[in-house]
Amino acid sequence: MCGIIGCTGRCEAAEVLTKGLRRLEYRGYDSAGVAVVDGDSMAIVKRAGRVDSIEPYVRALRGSTGIAHTRWATHGKVTDENAHPHASCDGRIAVVHNGIIENYRELREELEARGHRFRSDTDSEVIAHMLEDALRSFEDPLQALLAVCRELRGSYAFLAAGPALGDALLAARKDSPLVVGLAKGAVYASSDVYAFIEWTDDAYFLENGSVAVLRPGEVRAALLDGTPLEVRPVKVAFEMSEPDAGAYAHHTFREIMEQPEVVARALAPRPEVDEAARAISEASQVFAVGAGTSYHAALVARYVFADVAGLDVQPVLASEHGLFLRWMGPGSVVLAISQSGETADVLEAVRAAKSRGARIISVVNVPHSSLEREGDLSVNVRAGPEVGVAATKSFTAQLATLSMIALRMAGRPLPDPERARRLVSEALRLEPAARELGNRLKGSDDLYLVGRGVHYPLALEGALKVKELAYVHAEGLAAGELKHGTLAMIEDGTPVVLINPGDDTHSDTASNGEEMKARGAFIIGISDVESDLYDVHLRIPEARGVELPIVEAIPLQLLAYHLALARGAEIDRPRNLAKSVTVK
Ligand code: F6R
Repeated sequence: MCGIIGCTGRCEAAEVLTKGLRRLEYRGYDSAGVAVVDGDSMAIVKRAGRVDSIEPYVRALRGSTGIAHTRWATHGKVTDENAHPHASCDGRIAVVHNGIIENYRELREELEARGHRFRSDTDSEVIAHMLEDALRSFEDPLQALLAVCRELRGSYAFLAAGPALGDALLAARKDSPLVVGLAKGAVYASSDVYAFIEWTDDAYFLENGSVAVLRPGEVRAALLDGTPLEVRPVKVAFEMSEPDAGAYAHHTFREIMEQPEVVARALAPRPEVDEAARAISEASQVFAVGAGTSYHAALVARYVFADVAGLDVQPVLASEHGLFLRWMGPGSVVLAISQSGETADVLEAVRAAKSRGARIISVVNVPHSSLEREGDLSVNVRAGPEVGVAATKSFTAQLATLSMIALRMAGRPLPDPERARRLVSEALRLEPAARELGNRLKGSDDLYLVGRGVHYPLALEGALKVKELAYVHAEGLAAGELKHGTLAMIEDGTPVVLINPGDDTHSDTASNGEEMKARGAFIIGISDVESDLYDVHLRIPEARGVELPIVEAIPLQLLAYHLALARGAEIDRPRNLAKSVTVK
């Protein structure tokens, strides 16, 4: 995954790079590093750990040209040596890379045979050594860059800087995002506009499969076959997120608490929703593609579209899209659901479907993301910046947006945003109860979450939140499936969250709850209906139709948050994860 940023020209590299890295940490936070060029010398500071761990050293660096990286390890352990930037043997060029170089073993062997010495176990280091050689063979850095890229297989977005390039930066991208920011006398480049938006809002999104040489006031870009590209920047608008969690202890908690506003905003009618509804009603087949939480939104969409519009929407796990490609042809519509709009599996599915003639409707949160730009039509879910790694408010915003599309398609009235705001606010009042429950369950090794119908994907989503935030094994189950095996796991005191609102699933799910209770389960009921079945009742407000899954998500998120808090887990950045998963 990883995030990269670079700058050159009229700017303080140390400041731009540290601020940028903070904004890129959502892409990975195993290690961080910076290279700053000052005339004929280059300083590299890098370390396993967060940006905080290098910041004091970086602040001391002088220079206006530099590159930086925040890592999510793919090749090589999390060590100082494997942190980026990686330098060439002569120390005159350094590289930061996001992606995976698939043929790095062959390239490394060739380079070592030619005398290059490697210092890391990463795939990325080959690029620095290849550039060192290429810059000796080609006078024009653009040609050197092209020669290197033609040898690389895999996915990459990389930046290079160093005394060998003076005040120039080299940039290249294939299947990983890279955007250039143009300002008076300075140029920036990063995985994400968000990293340099403080300095400029003129952005040039590098085309997939292209390279560029960036100099203050000048950008030369070309396709990988050498065809020159015209550089046309666009104005980008971007909501800046709070740099800290404000009055809340964690970003994740703030984002959970923001949901009354978020849901109301997502439910506001907008032309893109109508356009999406029209496109779907004309489609021969509709797919909803996503990963993780966004896949759970796709599963909810299946129930919602069936219920309100009588339409069969096929949910597709992005990483498993291969099976479905044969049906993603002309006439079909793919709803591509993603918070970040950068998830590699989703982008791969979308590109494959698009090349077969399917129409892509992206349902994204991050503006200007790859998915938003690559879709035929884009509907933003309007959750605002989500900093916590666990998706919370983006999930409810996805549910609200997808429900609107379904209701519009069926010509049915849209939910009242003010009523939804009130319902979500009421559900958030369960926070003290969730805190108590978190403390009570903190010693549990397993948690089961059970639901039926549209509440089944909510059980899956609740389990995912518990796993990633609290590191507790959790399993989401369709209530009817219990007796087909998992019931064997239930014993005295096993905690079970029963998603059991008073709709047409109520009595069957309650019966399944009784079956578990008879075997000793400790039942936590999420319901608007009183019942002595529940050992603990998280009473949600009475919601109906498409409102229900949105309201149910709230106690599930609160429970996962408080379980994590009680167990002392790191909440905003769970171990081993990253906010944006840009590798397959
Ligand atoms: C879970 C979570 C992940 C993401 C998944 C897809 O809380 O955040 O499971 O949902 O990585 O990410 P997006 O939605 O950005 O495509």
